Amino acid sequence: MSLIIVISGGTGLIGKALSRKLARAGNTVRILTRTPEKYSESPSISFHFWDWKRRKIDENVFQNAQVFIHLAGANIGAKRWTSAYKAEIAGSRILSLKFIREYLQEKGIRLRTFIGASAIGYYGCITDKLLRTEEDPPGDDFLAGVVSVWEEESLLMNRVADNVTVLRTGVVLDKNEGAFPKMIKPVKMKMPLVLGSGKQYVNWIATDDIADMYAYALEKGLNGIYNAVAPRPVTYKEFVECAAMLLNLFCCLPSVPGFLLKLFLGEMACLVTEGVPVSSSKIRESGFVFKYDRLEKLLRDYLR
Ligand SMILES: NC(=O)c1ccc[n+]([C@@H]2O[C@H](COP(=O)([O-])OP(=O)(O)OC[C@H]3O[C@@H](n4cnc5c(N)ncnc54)[C@H](OP(=O)(O)O)[C@@H]3O)[C@@H](O)[C@H]2O)c1
Repeated sequence: MSLIIVISGGTGLIGKALSRKLARAGNTVRILTRTPEKYSESPSISFHFWDWKRRKIDENVFQNAQVFIHLAGANIGAKRWTSAYKAEIAGSRILSLKFIREYLQEKGIRLRTFIGASAIGYYGCITDKLLRTEEDPPGDDFLAGVVSVWEEESLLMNRVADNVTVLRTGVVLDKNEGAFPKMIKPVKMKMPLVLGSGKQYVNWIATDDIADMYAYALEKGLNGIYNAVAPRPVTYKEFVECAAMLLNLFCCLPSVPGFLLKLFLGEMACLVTEGVPVSSSKIRESGFVFKYDRLEKLLRDYLR
C-alpha cells in the first residue's frame, strides 16, 4: 500500500537512506526540515519548513498523512557539550516531538504509525560485559537522561497514532558519512589506533539495515521499544583489529588514553571511550533479518 510519510530530520544520515527506500517502494515522503530551500524535490520526496522553537510548521505537511517518523535532533558528536548545546540536544529531540504531538492533537489528526529514533546511550556511558536488553534500566548520566525522556515522549505518541515503535539505535556505520569515516581514517593511514581502553563495546548497525528496520517496523506495525544494533557487538579493539587485518596491517595497536580524549573532547569523550554490549534478539525474534550481521562482512564491503 502506498503511504504518505512525514519524516522530521529526514535530511540526515538515516533520513536520506530511509526516504530513498520508502520513495522507491512507492510511498510519498514529506521531509520536515529547518531549511527546505536547500533541497531539490523529486516527484515522491518533498521538503517542508518547520521550526519547533517558534512552533511553526508547514500546514500542508500532515494532510492525508498516515505515518510520522521522528529523526530530528542536534548531532551529539558535532560540538562540545556546553550547557547551551546540551539544551539543544535535548530540546531538538524532546520538545520538537512534544510540539508535533500537540499540533496533531490540536488539529485532530490521527496517524496509523509513529516511529521514533532513540539511542543506546540509554544504557549509560559505562563499560562492562553484561548484555543489555530492552528491559534493562537506563544509565544515570546526561545522555541516558535525555534518551529516557525522549523515549517517554515518543511513547506518548500513542495519543495520536495507532502503532508506536521506538528504535534504540547503535552507532550507524555508513561508508561515506557519520562515525565510520572518522573511525577508519587512522587505519587507512596505516596507523591503527585504539581509543581508550579498547574494551568498550561498539554497538554498530549498517545504514542499509537501520533504513530497512524502519521500513520493517512500519510494514509489520510493530509496537514498543526495540534495540537497533547488529547481532554481534564488538569491542573497539576488535573493530580496529578487524579493519587492520582486512587492510593487511600487522602491527601492534597503540592506544590513545581515555584521559587525553576527555581533555580534548570533554564529557562527550564517553561516546568513544565507553560502551556496554547491547542485544538485538527482540527485533530478530520478530523476524527482522540483517543484511550486515557480522562486522567483517560490512568492513569487507566498505573497504573494497
Ligand atoms: N547516526 C547514528 O549513529 C545514530 C545513532 C543512534 C541514534 N541516532 C538518532 O537517530 C536520529 C537520526 O540520526 P542521523 O544520524 O540521521 O542524524 P543527523 O544526520 O545528525 O540528522 C538529523 C537531522 O536533524 C535535524 N536537526 C539537527 N539539529 C536540529 C535542531 N537543533 N532542531 C531540529 N532539527 C535538527 C537536521 O535536519 P535539518 O537541518 O534539515 O532541519 C538533521 O538533518 C537522531 O535523533 C540521532 O540521535 C543516530
